[in-house]
Amino acid sequence: MAQFLALIALSILALQTVASPHYQSLSGLSERELAELIPRLNIVTPPPPPAPPKDTSVKLVNDKAHPWMPLREGDIRGPCPGMNTLASHGYLPRNGIVTPAQIVNALQDGYGAENAFAIGLAYASLLVDGNPLTNLFSIGAKSPATGPDPPKPAIVGGLNGHNTFEGDASFTRDDFEFGDNHSFNQTLFNQFVDFSNRFGGGNYNLTVAGEYRFYRVQQSIAQNPHFSFTTARYITAYRDIAFPTIFFVDGRKADGQLNLTDALGFFRDSRFPNDFHRIDGANSSALVNNAAATIFNAHPIQPGGNNGTVNSFTVDTKSAAFTDPCGLYTSFVDITVGLYPNPQGVLRRNLNANLGFLYQAFQGCPQRFPFGQ
Ligand SMILES: *[C@@H]1O[C@H](CO)[C@@H](O)[C@H](O)[C@H]1NC(C)=O
Ligand SMILES: *[C@@H]1O[C@H](CO)[C@@H](O)[C@H](O)[C@H]1NC(C)=O
Ligand SMILES: *[C@@H]1O[C@H](CO)[C@@H](O)[C@H](O)[C@H]1NC(C)=O
Ligand SMILES: *[C@@H]1O[C@H](CO)[C@@H](O)[C@H](O)[C@H]1NC(C)=O
Ligand SMILES: *[C@@H]1O[C@H](CO)[C@@H](O)[C@H](O)[C@H]1NC(C)=O
Ligand SMILES: *[C@@H]1O[C@H](CO)[C@@H](O)[C@H](O)[C@H]1NC(C)=O
Repeated sequence: MAQFLALIALSILALQTVASPHYQSLSGLSERELAELIPRLNIVTPPPPPAPPKDTSVKLVNDKAHPWMPLREGDIRGPCPGMNTLASHGYLPRNGIVTPAQIVNALQDGYGAENAFAIGLAYASLLVDGNPLTNLFSIGAKSPATGPDPPKPAIVGGLNGHNTFEGDASFTRDDFEFGDNHSFNQTLFNQFVDFSNRFGGGNYNLTVAGEYRFYRVQQSIAQNPHFSFTTARYITAYRDIAFPTIFFVDGRKADGQLNLTDALGFFRDSRFPNDFHRIDGANSSALVNNAAATIFNAHPIQPGGNNGTVNSFTVDTKSAAFTDPCGLYTSFVDITVGLYPNPQGVLRRNLNANLGFLYQAFQGCPQRFPFGQ
């Protein structure tokens, strides 16, 4: 009887899983659950990523065709203010459910991001946080104020997947350990303002980023018993805080100094400043790499984490080092393998196609084929 009840409970769970699966990550589902789910999904053959834009010039992006609009019931926003802003201005679908091609186009059009950089971000997101069968993912969690309860953690989709893009020691979002790890946190933003006043003369810049990055890591070591700072998060933790000095500064200025009014607009309200112009997109990959290295070099920290108690930070020698240029690529591939230990059929086909697209952003690194060629 107990077994029978457990079976019923399991099938109810499985039904809940299939209730709104179109953009949810498939990771953690058993082969049986997948077999049940697949016939209900609109499975697509992954189309190739968009080409580089013809026009990369500095230009007005907060324009009449892309007005900021407030959230509607059910719209999804997540831990990344850059993506949130693109959605609230309609460069991405305003509901926050996207395809990788839409991400590539939006990053190029809205911020002047370079093609390879945009491809890297888009396909890594789909692979680790999205649904590779429907080619969809969400840019975050359902906003707690609206919509139904968020899905169970095991299948939670979107950029909230812990330790990939969302991660500990974020500048304006709290650690995973402490609950809401995706919403704007005013206490942390106040700290960000304090550091910008002390080290940036009232602006956020790379000097501020170097100091605040170090401080946030020390804070997490002291407060979060399960603080984790290993690749991929370890490397993205230096890159995502470089973005605001590059992509959130008006392209006509492009001096790496972000004022705090504009910063609050992006971080809290998902909003471009009035009359905002994107940067010239020709060199943004190099700009990001150089800026991340500047932040790292201010206070180099090795990858590692706490071991279950606070103040127990131990270096993890298995995590890629910051100076390993291919470590980010390899760790994303490894994360994908961990999420999909034994993919078959269309799932394997689509994972392989998307891994191939991801590699376009990391040419020069040894290519990996974890699911065969
Ligand atoms: C982090 O946020 C997600 C999305 O809201 C939530 O499902 C998860 O439980 C949070 N993590 C913790 C440890 O509370
Ligand atoms: C914001 O972060 C601070 C510092 O970690 C934490 O104490 C506070 O509970 C968070 N606030 C909210 C509303 O989550
Ligand atoms: C950041 O701003 C401070 C104060 O104006 C300045 O001393 C510092 O050089 C700036 N750093 C960068 C990288 O622009
Ligand atoms: C910040 O920059 C915006 C332009 O992007 C400008 O309108 C605003 O006055 C500036 N605010 C401060 C406090 O300097
Ligand atoms: C882009 O980088 C190249 C080589 O590093 C340089 O020659 C060129 O001036 C840069 N272009 C812009 C717009 O910064
Ligand atoms: C965690 O690290 C602390 C400090 O380094 C050490 O005293 C403790 O024994 C470690 N605990 C475990 C479970 O490894």
